Amino acid sequence: MNRPVKIAPSILAADYAKLGQEVRDVMQAGADWIHLDIMDGHFVPNISYGPDVVKALRPHCEAVFDCHLMIAPCDPYIEAFAKAGSDIITVHAEAGPHLHRSLQAIRALGKKAGVSLNPATPESVLEYVLDSVDLILVMSVNPGFGGQKFIEPVLEKTRRIKTMIGDRPIDLEMDGGISAETAPLAARAGVNVFVAGSAIFNGNGPNAYADNISSIRSAVQSAIGQ
Ligand code: DX5
Ligand code: ZN
Repeated sequence: MNRPVKIAPSILAADYAKLGQEVRDVMQAGADWIHLDIMDGHFVPNISYGPDVVKALRPHCEAVFDCHLMIAPCDPYIEAFAKAGSDIITVHAEAGPHLHRSLQAIRALGKKAGVSLNPATPESVLEYVLDSVDLILVMSVNPGFGGQKFIEPVLEKTRRIKTMIGDRPIDLEMDGGISAETAPLAARAGVNVFVAGSAIFNGNGPNAYADNISSIRSAVQSAIGQ
């Protein structure tokens, strides 16, 4: 049973000087979720923004806020991101020794819990947390920057994760280098949530967002025969 297709623009590639407007524009253009990339300059070699920015954006949009924490440690900040209005909080399996505890903490705050895997991380880390997650995020670039090239070998891992998920109500998300060209590959591997930064917020301004989103969506739909 396939879960619904969701397109989740990453505002990492948006204009930070007008983020509220960017979120409204991309929702108007047909986005399903907003993907929020949190980077700490320690777990990943870049710094983005923190819970206060998530909180400031919350009144601009009713859609799911899909918060991707690329931070270590993550546990001390989970509550702040929950209070800021995140709906899904995803932590990296590589971010600390207590993945199960982090996932429990997210659910205890009434939020959906996600786990993300870097390209080099094997799917075996998921084996004993499958009943503790609502979303699995497979990185198809090394996290830290937008605009990188899609790493194809992650597709094989993704197919194995899809099999591990079985009938569980878990969304399978892919993030990094997603475009109308690569999204069909991800879709055929079992992905139903597609994060895209540069492919949506490219240089052509808000007028291009609707076309950018619909070209990813229709490429996915034709790949999975919808
Ligand atoms: C990478 C981030 C991604 C990034 C995707 O570290 O997690 O969400 O913004 O950007 P593109 O789509 O440009 O690869
Ligand atoms: Zn991300």
